[in-house]
Amino acid sequence: MTFSHGYEFDAMSRRPLYGDVTQHLVDLCKAPDGCVVADVGCGSGLATQLLLERTGNVGAIIGIDPSEHELAIARRRVTDPKVRFVQGRAQDVESLAGPVDVAVLSNVMHQIPESERGAVIDGCHGLLVPGGRCALNTLFYEGAVLPETRPFYAQWMRATRDALRERGQDLVLGGPKPVALQTLTPARHEELFTRAGFSRVRSDEVVYTWTLQDWEALCTYSVFVEGSTGVGDLALGSEALIQGLRTTFGRLELTGVPRRWLFAWGVK
Ligand SMILES: C[S@@+](CC[C@H](N)C(=O)[O-])C[C@H]1O[C@@H](n2cnc3c(N)ncnc32)[C@H](O)[C@@H]1O
Repeated sequence: MTFSHGYEFDAMSRRPLYGDVTQHLVDLCKAPDGCVVADVGCGSGLATQLLLERTGNVGAIIGIDPSEHELAIARRRVTDPKVRFVQGRAQDVESLAGPVDVAVLSNVMHQIPESERGAVIDGCHGLLVPGGRCALNTLFYEGAVLPETRPFYAQWMRATRDALRERGQDLVLGGPKPVALQTLTPARHEELFTRAGFSRVRSDEVVYTWTLQDWEALCTYSVFVEGSTGVGDLALGSEALIQGLRTTFGRLELTGVPRRWLFAWGVK
């Protein structure tokens, strides 16, 4: 996975759509006054900021992310002394923080290899005080794509390939399956929580409609560009995805594309 300067998740995190999604996740993280929160995979700090503003009277927040590029943006965005940022991976969360009342994974699970996702939820369980809550959301899971929108994705990839070929390149397919495409069903996400020892485990799917600008913002994120095109040159991959996107929105006369987002949570 490449974390590259200029291709952070931040453009996407500034979209109103993403703010709505993250707010929904934060609303699932009810916690007592003075609570301690771990924002695991905090990226550029949008969820961290919302957690600070909306989770009652927060005592402290620890934002954890492996990307120094993302953390640099997060440190500029959230300067409250209650918040500290630590470089590290969700897989090692128990050695980086704890004990906490709330552990949040805001759109992180699909960046963890499938075989390690159970250990991440186990780690969050270990981090929590009794009665503490863990909540996650993800936009890459089995069931995210509404059947009627499949032609959009197929045409978009064809148009992206055309855009790459105009530049003497091509999609790089046939390598190992990108981590985000190692998708799990909602039931399997719930099972990860149950196996880790959580009770009151629930999941919920919510449909959000993505505009052209929402997709364009995602196309400037290194992990998405790499995963969807296989192209190592991020500028080239990003430009081709955006050109393909505009062509597809035009051809299909789209104003938006609905897609499901998964939320899952449990209590220790
Ligand atoms: C889609 S972004 C979401 C960022 C942030 N949580 C938000 O909602 O704005 C995914 C984040 O997961 C981080 N990430 C990738 N692999 C990770 C891992 N193994 N452990 C923790 N975070 C990881 C990335 O660096 C990135 O910041």
